Amino acid sequence: MTMTFPPGFLWGAATAAYQVEGAAAEDGRTPSIWDTFARTPGRVLGGDTGDTATDHYHRRREDVSLMAELGLGAYRFSVSWPRVQPTGRGPASRRGLDFYRALVDDLLARGIRPVLTLYHWDLPQELEDAGGWPERETAHRFADYAHLVGEALGDRVGLWTTLNEPWCSAFLGYASGVHAPGRTDDAAALRAAHHLNLAHGLGAQALRAVVPAGARLSVALNPGAVRARTPSPGDVDAQRRIDALSTRIFTEPMLRGTYPADLLADTAAITDWSFVLDGDMDVIKHPLDALGINYYAPSVVSAATDNRPVRADGHGGERSPWPGAGGVAFHRPPGKQTAMDWSVDPTGLYDLLMRFTREAPGLPLIVTENGAAYDDKPGADGTVHDPERIAYLHAHLEAVLRALTDGADVRGYFLWSLLDNFEWAYGYSKRFGAVYVDYATQARTPKSSAHWYARLMRTGQLPPR
Ligand code: FCB
Repeated sequence: MTMTFPPGFLWGAATAAYQVEGAAAEDGRTPSIWDTFARTPGRVLGGDTGDTATDHYHRRREDVSLMAELGLGAYRFSVSWPRVQPTGRGPASRRGLDFYRALVDDLLARGIRPVLTLYHWDLPQELEDAGGWPERETAHRFADYAHLVGEALGDRVGLWTTLNEPWCSAFLGYASGVHAPGRTDDAAALRAAHHLNLAHGLGAQALRAVVPAGARLSVALNPGAVRARTPSPGDVDAQRRIDALSTRIFTEPMLRGTYPADLLADTAAITDWSFVLDGDMDVIKHPLDALGINYYAPSVVSAATDNRPVRADGHGGERSPWPGAGGVAFHRPPGKQTAMDWSVDPTGLYDLLMRFTREAPGLPLIVTENGAAYDDKPGADGTVHDPERIAYLHAHLEAVLRALTDGADVRGYFLWSLLDNFEWAYGYSKRFGAVYVDYATQARTPKSSAHWYARLMRTGQLPPR
């Protein structure tokens, strides 16, 4: 097997607005659901909030220089909706857009391709107050917002992502409640999933209308690499149910314009899906130029007599994020785990890349997120050695090469994350960065993995282990 990535392979790193920007109340930005959630006692570990985060809003220049020094070919970032459209409707905030204009200009000046995600979970609080994602109107608001951002940056951004991981927005946000807005209502979560799909389609339409013909549109999903614990019919059916709710609920509408029949049957006691209106499925099936896949770890499931708390699936919480799944137990796979308790298993990434090669032939794939959290600490000399992260990245990039060899059209890879940052309900306790952030001083120190990744980006060669 070759250890060389194809010429033109896009090498990048990713972040998201709420996780890195800070400046939560500056230049007209209003609260998002994550500001509200993080300020609610008990929701985020240690009471952490994104008020300051990694202060990227003020350190934009320094951070782009760091990216250039590392040799990033592309930077995947998200736009904060409440920063550019503070009430979630109406005209854009010039000051909000100015930040992203400056960021994109800085990136382009350093030869780094901007990859823009419109929605990485920070819904303007006003829209949640009006009902949030369970309401159809939110999808229309998203389309307007997509139009505003497309109009402002369409001439300079070549690759667009509508939503990041709508599964998390719908099911962690509205079913298990471990993410903002923290609601626990299964019917609302399924409505949210549909309206996120609709938002994706309407947003893609709105972008297409304003961005140049050459701009590419994508979505970043976190499809499940779900395995049955045993080949028994019960376990295999548990796998099917979780696959429907984690993956096919998004991929079937987006790629084929239908909801899977088994999903509708599994959830029939919760909802009749009458919120799916005529024409919705055609909108959702909007042509994509690439499919973004975020991958961290597989899950192992078995049939269970009740739908038990699913701590072992790595999402925490006491309530299941799987409405209609019935009795499913999640198991900790054997082998190494990261600081998130997620297992290190690159075969899940290989399997997903091959799955979408089969299921979406001709659609280029991009690994839009992959990485690992470890308990990194600076040594006495100030350097940060993270051999476990290097091993994780190496193994996953080997899986990408294997998929390429086996015919997958993988165009790029984005390491999560450029910087240590606000890891949602875990606050600052989990470090995913290739660059260490000292939150007291905001000093950035590239870890050994950053140097390792820089070399890989420069040579396109995966070194021997
Ligand atoms: C993904 C999110 C990203 C980050 C990683 C660890 O689910 O998209 O923001 O938190 O997990």
